[in-house]
Amino acid sequence: MAEQKNSFSSSIGAIMAAVGSAVGLGNIWRFPYICGKYGGGAFLIVYLLFVFLIGMVLMMSEFVIGRRTQHTPAKAFSTLRPDKKGWNIIGVVGVFTLFFIVSQYHLVSGWVTSYFVDSCTGTLAGLGQNADAISQYFADFSSSVWRPIIFATIFAVITGIIITGGVQKGIERISKILMPFLLILILVLCVRSLTLPGASKGLAYLFTPDFSKLTGEGILAALGQALFSLSVGMGVMVVYGSYIPVDDNLFKTSIWITASDTLIAILAGVAIFPAVFSCGLEPAGGPGLVFCVLPQVFNTMPAVVGSIFAALFFLLVVVAALTSNISLLEGLAAWLSETANTPRRKSTLIFTVCTILMACVVSLGNGAWSDFHIFGNNIFDFVDRLNSIYMPPICALLTVIFLGWVMPEKDVRDELSNHGTLKIGYYKVFLFLARFVAPIALIAVLVSGIMN
Ligand code: PHE
Repeated sequence: MAEQKNSFSSSIGAIMAAVGSAVGLGNIWRFPYICGKYGGGAFLIVYLLFVFLIGMVLMMSEFVIGRRTQHTPAKAFSTLRPDKKGWNIIGVVGVFTLFFIVSQYHLVSGWVTSYFVDSCTGTLAGLGQNADAISQYFADFSSSVWRPIIFATIFAVITGIIITGGVQKGIERISKILMPFLLILILVLCVRSLTLPGASKGLAYLFTPDFSKLTGEGILAALGQALFSLSVGMGVMVVYGSYIPVDDNLFKTSIWITASDTLIAILAGVAIFPAVFSCGLEPAGGPGLVFCVLPQVFNTMPAVVGSIFAALFFLLVVVAALTSNISLLEGLAAWLSETANTPRRKSTLIFTVCTILMACVVSLGNGAWSDFHIFGNNIFDFVDRLNSIYMPPICALLTVIFLGWVMPEKDVRDELSNHGTLKIGYYKVFLFLARFVAPIALIAVLVSGIMN
């Protein structure tokens, strides 16, 4: 067993940082609209199954691999099986995935930051309740050249600065401040949304199971969302696993993270849908929900109140996005530090710059370069598909196969039981899920993603 170089100061610190990674744009921007689209309560049931049976198994697997080896995915796999160095390919696939996700993440987080500023300055309120004007504003903004890039750059630089502060003084400290703040913000917004007239229609939309809308595509979306939302399948949790204190109970920690992430996603739905229905609006706005439908909702409230709630909402998304972005960039920087032996600062700087450049490309794909297509998608949509459908399941699949079939079982058992000091009654179920259930489900996602 390797000695721990970098670590979070406590279990709570580890949980806060990992919840910070898990709770992000996926919970607030993506979960509500896909849940509504694929049958509300029906989707929720399938999602919960995937989250706890597959997502959490993957999280535990990544934690086991990271903490056992004290390495990033650059070296973790070959440390466990020195005779099979080829498995380090998982680290390489993970880094590619992270690179694309983080570029898109900088960009969308930049949009949200810009909307936060717009709600503070009254620009958003100035658009009134005119749906066309609000949609046009978003279309013009997201396809413009400079503003999205400037905000994405600011967001990326702040992320880089926090990471440079280190594991405890940077990542852990900021997560311990921002996560409780996020919880308060979302609860305030839920109360506001639930007390609007006609709120119950929104709750019905979110929770009443409509199995006719739960298509095969919906089931696959649920699995993809479960992986994305728990930040698994890219090696980030291998890196965070290496920072988890050695006496921490990995099973309990994973349950806390998984449950918190799921709760926040549901609360995001509760904060959004009752308000949308209360204004008589259609929730089926897809990704435009946050940028087109919600501003209309805020603008139906009395001017100052609307601006305050708009600002609180966009601040919530900024906070959620920041702590996820930290883990994404940390995943890249830690990998580079280990591969090339570069100091933390330098690796962070290199990846901050490279991902900003990629974010510029993705942003221009929405506007000036929108005629440029890859396999029939513009650059933004291509990257989005790559991030959500293909790359994470590939990396996740390789990870569970490695844990279930390749690495020595003694290492798994030993790490989960903290060298025999903890009872692990769940162990057989865990191993069964990792060996059979998760790989089969992941292969199904991949095959269907490719066929579509
Ligand atoms: N889990 C984050 C979200 O829900 C996204 C993320 C994916 C973060 C992978 C880190 C690693 O938005």
